[in-house]
Order: sequence, then structure tokens, then C-alpha cells
Amino acid sequence: MCGIVGYTGVKDAREILLDSLELLEHRGYDSVGIARFDSETSQVCVDKCVGRVRDLRRECEQETLSSTCGIGHTRWATHGAVLEKNAHPHRCGKVTIVHNGIVENYRQLIENYELQEQLVSETDTEVVAALLDHYYHGDAQRTIQKVAGKLKGTYALVMMFEDQPGVIYAIRNVSPIVVAECEEGMMLASDLTALGQFTKQYFVMPEHAVLKMEADRMTLVGFDGNVVEPELLTLDWEMQSLGKNGYPFYMEKEIMEQPDTFMATVKNRIVNGLPDFTVDGVSDEALTSCKRICVVACGTAWHAGLMLQALVKSVLHMHIDVELASEFMYSDPVINENTLLIAVSQSGETVDTLEAVKYAKQKGAKCLAVLNVRGSSIARESDYVLYTEAGPEIAVASTKAYTTQLAVMYLLVAKMALLRGEYTVEETRHYMEEFQRVPEAISKVLEQRKEIHVVAKNVLEAKDLFMIGRGMDYSTLLEGSLKLKEVSYIHSEAYAAGELKHGPIALIAQDVPVVALVTQEKLMSKELSNIKEVKARGASVVLFIKQSLAEQLKEDYELVLLPDLEDKFMVFPAVVALQLLAYYVSSDKGFDVDKPRNLAKVVTVE
Ligand code: G6P
Repeated sequence: MCGIVGYTGVKDAREILLDSLELLEHRGYDSVGIARFDSETSQVCVDKCVGRVRDLRRECEQETLSSTCGIGHTRWATHGAVLEKNAHPHRCGKVTIVHNGIVENYRQLIENYELQEQLVSETDTEVVAALLDHYYHGDAQRTIQKVAGKLKGTYALVMMFEDQPGVIYAIRNVSPIVVAECEEGMMLASDLTALGQFTKQYFVMPEHAVLKMEADRMTLVGFDGNVVEPELLTLDWEMQSLGKNGYPFYMEKEIMEQPDTFMATVKNRIVNGLPDFTVDGVSDEALTSCKRICVVACGTAWHAGLMLQALVKSVLHMHIDVELASEFMYSDPVINENTLLIAVSQSGETVDTLEAVKYAKQKGAKCLAVLNVRGSSIARESDYVLYTEAGPEIAVASTKAYTTQLAVMYLLVAKMALLRGEYTVEETRHYMEEFQRVPEAISKVLEQRKEIHVVAKNVLEAKDLFMIGRGMDYSTLLEGSLKLKEVSYIHSEAYAAGELKHGPIALIAQDVPVVALVTQEKLMSKELSNIKEVKARGASVVLFIKQSLAEQLKEDYELVLLPDLEDKFMVFPAVVALQLLAYYVSSDKGFDVDKPRNLAKVVTVE
């Protein structure tokens, strides 16, 4: 959470910082600020405000200050309300700082060092600035290292010292910082999206080291005093895909990209019609030696895990747990050397998932991660990584990341089924043939978007909404419902259709629409009974149904027909239809679809 940037070089720092912060707004967007060295006076000048980057841009427009070095921050509030005084950068004496993460012992530090008098904000960050200022007597490296030793928690800290114009320092613990050297100068950020505009070469800042950036050089010195050589990585995302491509919102663009991102994810992993992870270096042994599987993930990625669970049970007949990463370590999980831990994460930075991976590894488990961002923290902790090829996902509500995560999981299950003798070669080929029909099915749903838009208009006024389904449909709806609530602010609950009568049916009334999903033939008759139960209580039902199951229902329900695939693959067209539903409800209500209130795309606090 929180986007941070730093730039020192030859160009105008204001534009670079503001442009980069705009690209980082998916990390938090309740307030924003920049601090720059004035090129003439060498003084540090701070501008900040509550609101978006565009608001700060407007405020800075009239300024004449010229600067080629500065740091910036876009905030997702943790400590302290959304007020200008709590916005970063924070300044104390000679020190100006931006921070991503949480310093857990900040109260103790205030007491121990009697810092209260100096503080104007309610943030943990300002305490770090005060502490740095307390120790600083010209040797920034030593001061930073000393202060780092006193901090508990996670942090990416980027700092400027008033008597060192043009110089930026950084340090991190868990929270990420990526760094790039480009023609125009040196740049760092909390997220790759901000660097891609300058260069494709970057490195992930190591922990236990202090980075010093000047306009024409940078040094990285470890806590042991030795110079650290960073490992250069290449960004392979097409940065032109960062634009909205004519769509009003990234979410719509990203929904529309899904046939392509699915193909990009699977294309090198199918050889002679069979699943193949040679390009990923995942050994067969890793997939055959495990006795049980445990998935850890958060949010949408957790929903992808639930779909894996359904497949693993039905195809592999194996035990599999799917845990919310934030609950995992505190639930005494049964993890040992026979466990394959699968961590799923778009960003690869979600701190709960990262901590879960570290914990499982300590217990002897092997870790396979399904990630979208190369070089991310979870990638570095894992034994194997299967990358999704979703490209940059900018909308906070995840869409293409989810379907590419599913794509990887469907491949994984096919591979394991073949290796473990659950499927013959012929059965695996058949599965793979159907799997490769997915992009076409998604495209058909995308062609139906006008129809789905009409359905969306019928739920615009709803305050509460239920989504009901059984089996895999229930898992699909958990994701569909999350999409709707996060972007439209309608209270939407996904419920297992058969479970509704054990409580929630009390909430069904005429003004509570119900979205039902029916794609699993074996569960259809039971689910139709559940749908009748809510209809009998006055609910208006929209039925998302697999086309071949829809005969004879046309008269009774408002239907969205989903293209036919074998039942186990129906999540793909179904979830895309639900993504479109959420998108249209939000955009018709006039909301900022890509930046729903209170949310952030990359969650680096526990
Ligand atoms: C945030 C995002 C979600 C995402 C979740 C997990 O809540 O808004 O879209 O599913 O974090 O993120 P990850 O990067 O680990 O997939």
C-alpha cells in the first residue's frame, strides 16, 4: 500500500514525480504529496494535499520552483485520519521522508526518545523522521542503519537530508522498492508500473542495505559495510499497454483483454496438446511428491484458490486446504515437508501471503507461487514460480489477473492428473482441448456485453443483493459478488444456494435482487428449487445460465446465456459475465470504477 517514488537527475522533478504517482495511485489515493530540493536555494519544499494526484498537480501548477530531485507519496491511510497534516512527505528538522508500511513500535519510540513535542501528525512515519533527525550529524548511512535497528514492523523508507541536496536515500524491510538507472537520472518506486516509462532494466532493492542515489550514480551498501551488487532484471511488460486504449476505465479495458491474456498465459505451457512446465523449471517431482496441497492467498487470488480446490478434489482426489493468508499462521496449520504450498498473488507483494510463504517454508513445505509480477517478494521466497501473463493490471478490482490465475491452475491440475495417473494421455488431451476453447467462450461473453449492461440497469438501485449458486458456481459467485461490492458499493452476498434457508432467506424481499448462476448440470435441479424459494418470497431473479441448460426457462426468468463449455470450465465465461455486471453497475452510477473508495491494489500491511 501507499505509492512511493524518488527521482534525482537532470529533468524537472515535479513532472516526473507527479506522473509516476499517478501511475501508482492504485496503491492508495486518499492524499498525496511531493518534496523537492529547490535547485536555486537547495532548500526542501513540501507540497501535499488530501485527494488525488490531479489535485496536487493543480496546486503546484503556479509554482515557479525548479528542481531536479525529489520524493513523492500517494497514501492509503493507516495511522491517522485522511488529513493534510498526515499526508506524506513528513519533515522533521533536516529530514524529509516518505514511507510505505507500518512501524509497529512508534508509540514506544515517542516515549523513549521524548519526541512528542516535535510531532504534528498522527502518523508512525513522522516518528521515524524525528528519530532520524535526532541521530543525524552528517553521516546518513550510519544514521539510517542505526534507526532501522530500532524499528519494528515493515517499511520502505525514502529520505532526503537537507544538507545533501540532490541525494536520496532508501531502505526497506519487507515492503518493496524497485530501482532503475536511466538516461535522465535515477528513479525508485514502490511498484514497477512507475519505472516502465523510463527503462526496462531495474533491480529490487535488497533488505539490510542502504541505497544512496545521486543524479549520476548510486551505491548500495549492506549493513555489514560491504557494497552490494544488485541483480538487474528486465521488465517484459509492454508499457504501452498501460494506457486505457480508448476505454473510459482500466477495468473495462482489462476485462476485454482476457481472451488475449489467457492465451499469453497458456501458449508456452502446452506442448503436443499436453500441459508442460518446462519453461518454468517446475520439476515433475515437485508435483508428484507432495501428499497434500495448501493454498494461501487473499481477495480475488483466494477465490482462484477455491476453484483450484474444487478441481483438485474432483480430478486429483487429493486433500487440499485453501487458507486466507491473513488467518493462516494463526490457525495452527498442518504443514510439513509433504505439503506443496501454493501461494497465489497478482502483485507478489501482499504481505500476509508473503509471511504465510515464509512460515510454510520454515515448516519444510515446498512453495510454488502463481504470480503476475516478476521479481516480486513472493517470487524471491518461493521454490517455483508460475507467472501469469496478465500484464500490468491497473484497476483496483482484479479481473484479468483472476482468469489468468485460473488458467495456470487448470494447467497445473491437468499436469498433476497425468503425472499421478488420474488421467490417461487421451483424457488429458481431451481436457486440454476443452480448456483451449476458453478464450473463444470468453470472447462470446464480451460480445454480449450490451445485454449484460441492460441487466445491470435493473440492479442499479439495489441496496442489498444476493448471489446464489452451488458447487463451482458458488465459488465463481464469491468472486462475482466481491467485484460488485468493491466497485458499486452495493451490499452483495454470495451464498451457497442450499444454505440460504438457514438464515439469509430472512433478508429476501421484493427490493432485494438475486443473481443466480447455473452452469453445473448435476446440481441444476436442486438449484432451480432454491431459486424458486427466493422467487416465492418476491425476489426478482436474474439467471446467468449455461446455454444448453436454459431450455424451458426462458419464460420464467430474465436470463443471461453463457456459451457452452464442459461444466468444469464454465467458471471462465461465467466470471467474465459477472465482471461486466459489476463494471456496468459502477460506471452507470458514475463512480470512479478503477479506484473504489478505501481500497488499494497492493496490500503491504497485515
Ligand atoms: C487487494 C486487491 C485485490 C487482490 C488482493 C490480493 O485487496 O484489491 O484485487 O485480490 O489485494 O492481492 P494479490 O496481489 O496478492 O493478488
